Amino acid sequence: MTKPDVLQMMPITPNIQAQAEEAFALKKLWQAADADAFVAEVAPGVRGILTNGIIGAGKGLIEALPKLEIVGVYGVGVDAVDLATAKVRGVRVTNTPDVLTIGVAELALALLLAVARRIAYNDRYVRAGRWRTDGDPVLANNLAGKRLGILGLGRIGQAVATRAAAFDMAICYHGPQRKEGVAYEYVPDLVEMARAVDCLVVTCLGGPTTKGLVSRDVIDALGPKGWLINVARGTVIDEPALVEALALGRLGGAGLDVFAGEPHVPEALLGMDNVVLQPHQASATWETRDAMGQLVVDNLKAHFAGRPLPTPVL
Ligand code: 8YV
Repeated sequence: MTKPDVLQMMPITPNIQAQAEEAFALKKLWQAADADAFVAEVAPGVRGILTNGIIGAGKGLIEALPKLEIVGVYGVGVDAVDLATAKVRGVRVTNTPDVLTIGVAELALALLLAVARRIAYNDRYVRAGRWRTDGDPVLANNLAGKRLGILGLGRIGQAVATRAAAFDMAICYHGPQRKEGVAYEYVPDLVEMARAVDCLVVTCLGGPTTKGLVSRDVIDALGPKGWLINVARGTVIDEPALVEALALGRLGGAGLDVFAGEPHVPEALLGMDNVVLQPHQASATWETRDAMGQLVVDNLKAHFAGRPLPTPVL
């Protein structure tokens, strides 16, 4: 049986890549010198796309592939896939929920700890020899006893909550509606929640419904002692307002894994000691990426074998 042509946008972990090579005729876009020419060349045969949460699959790409049947996203967020176009074309879309929840929650906690305990700053302090020349650095803060607001209490938000609770933090959350069977306090107004907490962790979905949700007002409500952690999407935060608030001391600190224009990071953040930066690493562990790879490959295989999709979005 001939293998279906799958346009692969980026590499995945080696053992899952090997499985994908067995099952599909992979057209590896990231290896092409001229991406547009490559797509034009392979377009007539492509039946599937293997992409990630950031590259996604835009309208132009979906429309350029006449035989496209399925987009498998190596990630939980599908905001970079043009779902409307996929729907019109009858193209299926899958993602990789659950398997990355713990990895993302762990990075949120790591960023929270890094900001509270000034870990990145102090690491630079030691490396620069300042411990010897300047003595001890300024004091940091505990997490215990602090109030944590979670924006988006989905799977990832709940995993952040249970971990933060183990650090003796008091937890509340905001989202479009109260979650049934959840004991944490629900705060219907985001500005009000930001005013009431010491730190805000963003774990909601991206896309148009959450764009700019963490506005200048929310950032100002968090205030000069507040911390903002983002492991969701850069688009959720008004990034220029965030940069300005950090620069002027109107926000205490931030731990950022995601940005509006990845891989570009606002220049002003690079020199700030109260900011910890990550290059979109929340799901970037061997354990998580293997599990994500397995799930995206399983979805594509199921589709081409005519079986039900394990984790469909569309
Ligand atoms: C990935 C993500 O880093 O799951 C998501 O939505 O953003 C991340 O898990 C992304 O898919 C890039 O590989």
